[in-house]
Amino acid sequence: MSFFKNMLFGGDYNPEQWPEEVWVEDMRILNLAKINSATINVFSWAQLQPDEMTYDFSTLDKIVTMLTEHNYQIVLATSTAALPAWMSRRYPDVNRTDFEGRPHKFGHRHNACPNSPTFRKYSKKLAGKLAERYGGLENVVCWHISNEYGGECYCENCAKEFQVWLKKKYHTIEALNRAWNMTFWGHTLSSWEDVVVPNALGDAIGQEKTAFAGISIDYRRFMSDSLLRNFTDEKRAIRFYDPETPITTNLMGTYKGLDYFKWAKEMDIVSWDNYPSYDTPVSMTAMCHDLMRGLKDGQSFMLMEQTPSQQNWQPYNSLKRPGQMKNMSYQAVAHGADTVQFFQLRRSVGACEKFHGAVIEHVGHEHTRVFRETAELGRELEKLGDKLLDAMTPAKVGIIFDWANYWALEYTSGPTIELRYVEQIHHYYQELFARNIDVDMISLNSSFEKYDLVIAPCLYMINQEQVQKIDAYVTKGGKFVTTMMSGLVDETDNVHLGGYPGPLKETLGIWVEEFDALPPEKSYQVVFQNGTTCDCRMLCDIIHPDTADVLATYGKGEFYQDTPVITTHQRGEGKAYYVGTMLSREGMREFFDIVLNDMAIPAYSLPEGVEWKTRVKKDQTYHFLLNHTNETIAVTLPVEGVDLLTDQSLTGTVELAPFAVKIITPEAKKG
Ligand code: GLA
Ligand code: ZN
Repeated sequence: MSFFKNMLFGGDYNPEQWPEEVWVEDMRILNLAKINSATINVFSWAQLQPDEMTYDFSTLDKIVTMLTEHNYQIVLATSTAALPAWMSRRYPDVNRTDFEGRPHKFGHRHNACPNSPTFRKYSKKLAGKLAERYGGLENVVCWHISNEYGGECYCENCAKEFQVWLKKKYHTIEALNRAWNMTFWGHTLSSWEDVVVPNALGDAIGQEKTAFAGISIDYRRFMSDSLLRNFTDEKRAIRFYDPETPITTNLMGTYKGLDYFKWAKEMDIVSWDNYPSYDTPVSMTAMCHDLMRGLKDGQSFMLMEQTPSQQNWQPYNSLKRPGQMKNMSYQAVAHGADTVQFFQLRRSVGACEKFHGAVIEHVGHEHTRVFRETAELGRELEKLGDKLLDAMTPAKVGIIFDWANYWALEYTSGPTIELRYVEQIHHYYQELFARNIDVDMISLNSSFEKYDLVIAPCLYMINQEQVQKIDAYVTKGGKFVTTMMSGLVDETDNVHLGGYPGPLKETLGIWVEEFDALPPEKSYQVVFQNGTTCDCRMLCDIIHPDTADVLATYGKGEFYQDTPVITTHQRGEGKAYYVGTMLSREGMREFFDIVLNDMAIPAYSLPEGVEWKTRVKKDQTYHFLLNHTNETIAVTLPVEGVDLLTDQSLTGTVELAPFAVKIITPEAKKG
């Protein structure tokens, strides 16, 4: 059951930054766009608590009353994402210490030390007071705790809490030394107090690398947990007064710092902020949506923020082209969004976001391109009502995304600096996207049984239990694909001895003896069994196909020419594939032609730039057809039916205008 009665259409709204006569005008203008929701109180701590002893809700009361009178569904934030100045000055423990070891003063936002006792005390208190006052209101439909949690702190409080966290995990200092392999460089610690935070003053090598990945990975786990504890602090304070309104915080796609799968367990509904730049591939945006849907096992999510048109913080802040904002909104819906929300409703007058797009622009009236497009979308969403809420994605393919692997793979020193986790995952996602195959992004803890195919690119860090789970899945008939840089290390980054890919050797039926890193200017050749060739780059594994069959070998030129690069292994009822390099796009096409060959996974061949996605609710299927390009494209429909947005019956070949969207319902046609 959905948390909302219809699609929320609105976004961040900051009337406290404006005189009250502007609010009246806001209500008039936003109504013209069928805006039905506002996210408020995101950055108002200084106003709500002007000093340590005083709380003042008078402005927020007025805002809530006004929005309620206008029937808004309110997403109420807790304001704890930016510290009030008095708190920073009076209680320096609330300020973060950065990677360079510099204790910060007042400034910026997302700036509280997660382990500051003062911050924890006052953030809980504020959340509780807000819940007590507004939690029972019918128009408050969602809680939005803090904002875009992220960043790290390396202060003394964090160092102490890290020691506590480690003690809980490892129990003895000997176990810790073993886990982090501390005999290396004579790093052996003799007490918990010897543990220091892995920043520039400790074991870090620049921002990206580290001398001891074990420490750095654990610090990431610890920071993710620390910030999550801030979230649950506030959540508990809210729940004391408000037992049921759904609670979220806005996530950021593939943001590295937080283990979102762990976070999602504490969230009632996932929400996220989608800010692709002008050159972000649509497949990357699609993957992020799928990841956000995957965090709660397929449950619909909120598109908490997107810009109606322009950005300000990217290097080149291009306008969204006419129709593009609508297209992107529907892309989110196609992938599982139950809301379409903007940052922000009115463009701010000063500070760093004054050139960030908004529904109401600086000109102050509704006669703008951006507003007209917003209003058009508003009318359409109003017509959709609750139809799509909670619809599911019928995916048969799962791609594993794992934050510990993300951290570990990118900390590792060697074999090549080009290894980027998200890029590797996207490389595989992209090929399925091109075939219009529905994909779930899943975790290592997800159940694999409902998938015909599970893909785990660069599954670098893995434990025995996870290996057993994968092996059982394959043995029972599942298909599994993994790649170079898999099966190499345990949970604290120590190598699984006995040959690569460690405990995955048996499932894959291979032994990887060495891996060669190709310099950036070099590519090499892969030759498939049928003679097709393609390029590969980055890494070349040297593979012994013990019990596996060879699907492709390296071309001529290197000392490992003619040896296997892609293998397949029949294991029980299933098959496990290994790709020992980074294939070109052509190579990926060839490889997936082989993998998908004997599988019944729905796929649709459509022109480049056109996307086809499906959501299913009870007996009703909704097919989204999206033209992501600024060109008119003719498409032969994979499925015919009625377009929900125009009520037109669509058959045969249709012309899609630039950025056009159709939502096709096949059954509606018969009735
Ligand atoms: C983030 C924040 C917002 C705003 C936007 C601007 O998503 O949550 O407060 O700063 O970026 O794009
Ligand atoms: Zn700290």
